[in-house]
Amino acid sequence: MNKLRLSIIDTALSLPIRSDLNLLEQCLSSNLVVARSCRNGNCGRCDSTLLKGCVQLRNGQCIKGPSTIALCVSYAQSHLQISHLPLIKSPSHWRCQWQNPSQLLLPAGRQIPPHKGDICAILFENSVELNEVADITGRNIHLLNTCTNTNHSVSLITIDRDHQGQYALWREHQHQRQTLWAHINHATALIAQAAYLQNTNGARYHIEMLQR
Ligand code: FES
Repeated sequence: MNKLRLSIIDTALSLPIRSDLNLLEQCLSSNLVVARSCRNGNCGRCDSTLLKGCVQLRNGQCIKGPSTIALCVSYAQSHLQISHLPLIKSPSHWRCQWQNPSQLLLPAGRQIPPHKGDICAILFENSVELNEVADITGRNIHLLNTCTNTNHSVSLITIDRDHQGQYALWREHQHQRQTLWAHINHATALIAQAAYLQNTNGARYHIEMLQR
């Protein structure tokens, strides 16, 4: 069989693809930074338009273009043409105001909010808590779980369900070292570091690889 190819109409790119890896993984490994969160076909973040070709979903169902597909659960069965790839163009972190342990408020002004169903991390000054966006109403972000930290200085980042890895993020404050988040992958550490650096509290934030 000829090697399969994925043509991405919006970018004029054409990539070789395999049928045993999902399309999201293959886009990411080709440095196409596609929006994603749940990686199980539920959140809709990686939805794209299949114009031509055929994919098999994780549940075995075959879908032919034209159709909307979630890249994270789609496996190529033929050459594919795709458009409306949700490439990330802006950083996925938000500086929020604290409302209560399960509700945050986006700052006023033009903001593209996170997406309902996003897996997220709430970055407190001295710890990180995992959560999920249950709903968005106006500027209000409703969280699925109640935060246990009561520090009111927070940022929210969206993360992959598969965010674990070999890195740690730590802060240096008043000559003390404090690990904020350990066993995360490098991409997650970079987003969290960027979000923390938005706060001008004088602390320094470092990423390091953990010893095996
Ligand atoms: S639907 Fe693909 S990442 Fe959620």
